[in-house]
Amino acid sequence: MQKNWKRYTVTSALPYANGPIHIGHLAGVYIPADIFVRYLRLKGKDVVFICGSDEHGVPITIKALQEKVTPQEIVDRYHTMIKKSFEDFGISFDIYSRTTSKVHYETASQFFKTLYDKGIFIEKTTEQFYDTELNQFLADRYIVGTCPHCQNDRAYGDQCEKCGTSLNPTDLINPRSAISGSELILKETKHWFLPLDKFESALKKWILEDHTEWKTNVYGQCKSWLDMGLQPRAVSRDLDWGVPVPVEGAKGKVLYVWFDAPIGYISATKELTPEWEKYWKDNETCLIHFIGKDNIVFHCIVFPAMLMAEGSYILPENVPANEFLNLEGDKISTSRNWAVWLHEYLQEFPNKQDVLRYVLTANMPETKDNDFTWKDFQTRNNSELVAILGNFVHRTLILTHKYFNGQVPLCQDVTQSEFEMLQQIAHIKINIEQNIETFKFREALKEFMNIARIGNKYLTETEPWKLAKTDIERTKAIIAICLEITGTLAVLGQPFLPFTTQKLNEMLNLPSISWDEIGKKPIFKAGHLINQPEMLFEKIEDEAIEIQLNKLKSAKQHNTNTLNIQPIKDNVSYDDFSKMDLRVVTVVAAEKVPNTDKLLKLTVDLGTEQRTVVSGVAHCYKPEDLIGKQVCLLANLEPRKIKGIESKGMVLFAENNEKLVAITPLESTQNGSIVK
Ligand code: MF3
Ligand code: ZN
Repeated sequence: MQKNWKRYTVTSALPYANGPIHIGHLAGVYIPADIFVRYLRLKGKDVVFICGSDEHGVPITIKALQEKVTPQEIVDRYHTMIKKSFEDFGISFDIYSRTTSKVHYETASQFFKTLYDKGIFIEKTTEQFYDTELNQFLADRYIVGTCPHCQNDRAYGDQCEKCGTSLNPTDLINPRSAISGSELILKETKHWFLPLDKFESALKKWILEDHTEWKTNVYGQCKSWLDMGLQPRAVSRDLDWGVPVPVEGAKGKVLYVWFDAPIGYISATKELTPEWEKYWKDNETCLIHFIGKDNIVFHCIVFPAMLMAEGSYILPENVPANEFLNLEGDKISTSRNWAVWLHEYLQEFPNKQDVLRYVLTANMPETKDNDFTWKDFQTRNNSELVAILGNFVHRTLILTHKYFNGQVPLCQDVTQSEFEMLQQIAHIKINIEQNIETFKFREALKEFMNIARIGNKYLTETEPWKLAKTDIERTKAIIAICLEITGTLAVLGQPFLPFTTQKLNEMLNLPSISWDEIGKKPIFKAGHLINQPEMLFEKIEDEAIEIQLNKLKSAKQHNTNTLNIQPIKDNVSYDDFSKMDLRVVTVVAAEKVPNTDKLLKLTVDLGTEQRTVVSGVAHCYKPEDLIGKQVCLLANLEPRKIKGIESKGMVLFAENNEKLVAITPLESTQNGSIVK
């Protein structure tokens, strides 16, 4: 944020209204965005913070189908629930709208119409998958299959969430319907395509040359897509849920959810203020999109291309995307109920929103996937919030009441070391600013806590409770300094811990003070009266943590007991079967493929030769688990390059609920033996 921006438009990804919100959402997107916005507001900046529910697209219609209710019922239920969770956790949106709003329908239609009238779209009839049982075209999440880039076998028809690549259904290996097991045929249908290829060079310049400061995960993903070359992408769908395509001859067609949803940021701003245009069309406005890593392509490539095509909008200045948060070592999953739901958390830990905000910020998956554990939650609460921050503040306020009847004493004189300490705190404040402005929220929080650490140490070393008997002037100075530090914490902590700092502000009887005033002049005047202190945090006992762990244990139990049974596929001829050349082989070497989570590079011995095979099993087997084992190889599968490694064949694994088990012969047999 080198530039001196006139105003800020901060958006955070519109969550799909197909389920409640969990800690992964908060840590990845909404807490970082909220810290950033609260900080800007404290600095007195003009900022709008925009969000809302993403209520279109297949994620919604699938959920409706599963529950046998209308999509409208689904979005109404979850929109209300999500909105409440955000309010409960202090995510301070200026507006939380929804994409089924009237303003949004008009805005999205108009946007499409503008591009259409400018002749931007390519109108094309192509073959799309059609479900003969449901009598409808299937797109996006209705289709699942194996990702051609990373081998994730749960990739969707529009995107692989594992590697983030945006896909077309026909790119998937072994595509199948996500809802029925029924046969898919290809059938012709007309759609409108956004020619991303035409924007490729402008996007390349804008990102690769002008935005080298973007986070490496974001920049790297963008670079790899741009290097692969962009293709036109369909922006309409054959669906009856969504914003209708606003042109002639488009009956039964709606805008693709990833076309309409980001426009939702604009619609929501329109709903918020009649002055919305200055937040979207003025070069002195800084636009920032907070998102999770699975949204990078849409916010860095597709939406900017749409904005460029439209012509009157600004482009985002930054897109600070986070990686994913895991829970107790496992991927958060709604279907496996492996999550901490915000509404449940609040029932079990009432009024402890800031504890969760704190722990999620401390573990924010900023540069890599990260893990939330209940043990860490407890430790951070007990030994950081309670023992450092809470303890310092409490001791300071108690002493003020004990020795000075709750009045801020006059500090006559500071010693050299006190002066240095205050300078150190001023320096920390600058570090916090720099870290927030470059989206390093973990580091910013750490620095903030260092102020409380310094205060604690100072209090412990000076021992004013002893000094009070002999030197009341020094005691006054020490308490006054501690109160200044407490006031500093109350202001600088607001972005991170809004509930706690509000409580603290009330106890301190403080008027609202801006960020920039801190360090410029003293916060308190001598004689200022503070209120009775209350504890800011309380210890979390082992029992409370046990309850949470047991809850997760029973979710796991339930999952391993339920077999995820797929319908049996159509018959194949004996001839077809015998085309597959299956062999017993021994794994002679194995290593992880660098920069991937799941891939192992295996060297297998077929008796007559050795081959390299890449398998997506690193989440289930360590290299040493497989070395020396006999496994089964599909030896005549077309070779394929995976992460630059030529993979010749496929090692077979049995799968249930993402757990893979190698298929090995009952007794050892000669390598190269045919399996039939
Ligand atoms: N609903 C999408 C998701 O949860 C995010 C949409 S962001 C927007 O992944 F830009 F499209 F709004
Ligand atoms: Zn993938």
